Amino acid sequence: MATLRLGDEAPNFIAQTTEGEIDFHQWLGEGWGVFFSHPADYTPVCTTELGATAKLKEAFSTRNVKVAALSVDSLESHKGWVSDINDTQNTQVDFPIIADEDKKVSALYDMIHPNADDKLTVRSVFIIGPDKKIKLMITYPASTGRNFNEILRVIDSLQLTAYQKVATPVNWNQGEDCVILPSISNEEADKLFPKGYKEVRPYLRLTPQPN
Ligand code: BEZ
Repeated sequence: MATLRLGDEAPNFIAQTTEGEIDFHQWLGEGWGVFFSHPADYTPVCTTELGATAKLKEAFSTRNVKVAALSVDSLESHKGWVSDINDTQNTQVDFPIIADEDKKVSALYDMIHPNADDKLTVRSVFIIGPDKKIKLMITYPASTGRNFNEILRVIDSLQLTAYQKVATPVNWNQGEDCVILPSISNEEADKLFPKGYKEVRPYLRLTPQPN
């Protein structure tokens, strides 16, 4: 299968997880999804990542986002490790962790990068929209834990820009000024952005977050 790209449909699969068997698309339903891989159970960085993700449960659910994790470890290993994560990170992991021992799902999502490690998944992240299309892909090496606040920030931007004719500038956070899409004329902008906008350059127009 060709490498996945932004805008492609997220491949569907059926898999065993710590929350039972899932059909990925059915499980996603009508909402958004974050699907991420980690290299291995019972490893320090992964333990902190999954603990932090569990603690963001409310932040994900208010954004209508479901989260699923994956590694090539067994279901039994995942279940034992979840107890450890809960214990050491002071949380309750209740999102599914996929047991991809046969590496079928990892292959679908190109999560094993053989020149980095030919057996374990790298730290891939996919954000999937309600249309099941891939909206974002990021890849981190095993040695670097991800910033899940950044993943929430991107979700905020994706959910805003899906409905408003704006994009979000560097280091944007929820509530901050946005940029008006270059394809929007000033006449249209006058109608679309009643809070007004500042024209720094004809191609750089800042407006308060419209929603
Ligand atoms: C970790 O999660 O700590 C880790 C996993 C694989 C390689 C290096 C670190």
